[in-house]
Amino acid sequence: MSPKIKKQKILLQTPKGMRDIMPGVYPFYKSIYEKAEEIAEYYGFFPIQTPTLERIGLFTASLGETSDIIEKEMYTLKTKSEDRLALRPEGTVGIMRAYLEHGMHTLPQPVMLWYKGSFFRHENPQKGRFREFQQFGLEIINDEKAIIDATIIKILVLILEETGIGPVIVRINSIGDKECKNIYRKELLAYYRKNFEDLCKDCKRRYKTNPYRLLDCKEEKCADIKKGAPQILNYLCSSCKQHFKEVLEFLDSSKIPYFLDVYLVRGLDYYSRTVFEIFEDTNKDNGDLTSKSLPVALAGGGRYDSLAKTLSNKDFPAVGGGIGIDRVVQLMIEKKITIKRSKTPKIFFIQIGKAAKYKCLEIIEIFRKAHLPLIQSIGKDSLKGQLKIAAKLNIPYALILGQKETLEDSIIIRDMNSRAQETVPTEKVVEIIKKKIK
Ligand code: HAM
Repeated sequence: MSPKIKKQKILLQTPKGMRDIMPGVYPFYKSIYEKAEEIAEYYGFFPIQTPTLERIGLFTASLGETSDIIEKEMYTLKTKSEDRLALRPEGTVGIMRAYLEHGMHTLPQPVMLWYKGSFFRHENPQKGRFREFQQFGLEIINDEKAIIDATIIKILVLILEETGIGPVIVRINSIGDKECKNIYRKELLAYYRKNFEDLCKDCKRRYKTNPYRLLDCKEEKCADIKKGAPQILNYLCSSCKQHFKEVLEFLDSSKIPYFLDVYLVRGLDYYSRTVFEIFEDTNKDNGDLTSKSLPVALAGGGRYDSLAKTLSNKDFPAVGGGIGIDRVVQLMIEKKITIKRSKTPKIFFIQIGKAAKYKCLEIIEIFRKAHLPLIQSIGKDSLKGQLKIAAKLNIPYALILGQKETLEDSIIIRDMNSRAQETVPTEKVVEIIKKKIK
């Protein structure tokens, strides 16, 4: 292959880990977002949209210098005016920045927000893992009650189940507050110190940089060592313990299926107390669910009571979660779930001649106001060419506007199956065609 063709071929490909969402798949995204927005608004959430780019420092300050996102996954850039920005790897930090920047603590509390959009992580692409992916997220800021944690989980479960993918299950744990985490960290390090030589190469590094990540390792030998590791629940202070107990009681009373995973810690520094992930419930024996046997998470979240303090000098306890929309779409497609598509056009509009071309936008507008979408090819001139497209798209009716019809203020309705045609006055066409396609 010549270097020129090779270069051309590369130019025509999306960057690694990024995809076009094609017209056939787009309606799945639309239907999930519509459902999610509707449910969120019924529960009292308001929409917010934050920028795709934020200052790098915002993320490094809050996600943890040694988290995977900061260490290797952030897309960063320097602008011409030397600002150092990052494509947002997640949404929570930007939402908290907006809460603080706009003094939202002066609004009635808690502030409940939903958001959606693209997020970017330079990860190794694999099934369900992309470098640009979409999330729908919910955040409740300035409320520390356990019922708030359960509400977030409940709504995320509701949204997921209403997409039709079937039952889901919540994997949940509490990692305590700053003090509990510090005590646990020491215990964890002491335990892994004894087993250091048997750890994989990555875990030897994690031991030094981010010991909680030791609990995520999928290597068999490390998974075996993990079985004996101290469990954070045993190091929770009494108020964290009580908080978690109440979260579980609320989940029980709402009949939300969950299982306790004492080793779930999640990778971001800002979390405290409740952490959770949501998975498709594949009907495995819950007792046997391990991080190794789990499919990819459809959603994840938790409490982040100290994030506001990290970014400002104020305390605003908060909790939230995000759904990975691409993963849900993949599951819907795999499960052959059909969605109510937006109106599929049943009418193809054909124009022939200059006078008809001048009038065609007017006709399309008449149909738009009547909520009847039209397919058209107004750049084309020949009747045959346009009829061919209508037939190829399987559209049952064509409207034909020629020179004569333009002058007479009429239009031809053609039944594409029987090929029968009738000429009707323009003012009656909507009424007549509505009856036909009913
Ligand atoms: P997260 O667990 O990193 O949490 O992401 C939430 C969900 O986004 C994941 O469960 C997954 O479904 C999806 N996701 C994450 N990375 C990818 C990827 N590379 N490709 C496809 N899907 C992905 C957060 O981002 C937190 N901000 C959630 C949160 C909100 N916590 C509190 N409030």
